[in-house]
Amino acid sequence: MTRRDLLQKVLIGGVTFLVLPPVLNSCSKDDNPDGTGNPPPGDKLNLDLTTPTFAALNNAGGFVITTQGILVANTPAGYVAIDSTCTHQGCTIGYSSTANNFPCPCHGSIYSVTGAVVNGPATVALKSYSVSKSGNILTISL
Ligand code: FES
Repeated sequence: MTRRDLLQKVLIGGVTFLVLPPVLNSCSKDDNPDGTGNPPPGDKLNLDLTTPTFAALNNAGGFVITTQGILVANTPAGYVAIDSTCTHQGCTIGYSSTANNFPCPCHGSIYSVTGAVVNGPATVALKSYSVSKSGNILTISL
């Protein structure tokens, strides 16, 4: 192998090394360019109420947590969709149909159905999403 052959192999290898990382990054599951891993704003999530996964939403006081981490509840004021991650330290909140609010089991924070903090230690509101219903399909606008 000549010195020229060696330099060509090193240069081609270097180019491959420099080009490969952007190609690998394009395979990332994070479709949102903000890097949060959350679904991009403007996306819609459809929940079919005829499926067992979402059947609880057919009952007053029923709720589910989607694989996207959105808690959807059937409240007296209609369907509510809210981020299920407590803003205090990240526990998963639930829905209390008797109190009509979202309590956190870890340290006692309570959120209203709008996501506002009713009781700390959390100080930051939960993100809420608009929900519409057409037939048996609930659509959550992310
Ligand atoms: S994590 Fe929810 S109150 Fe602390």
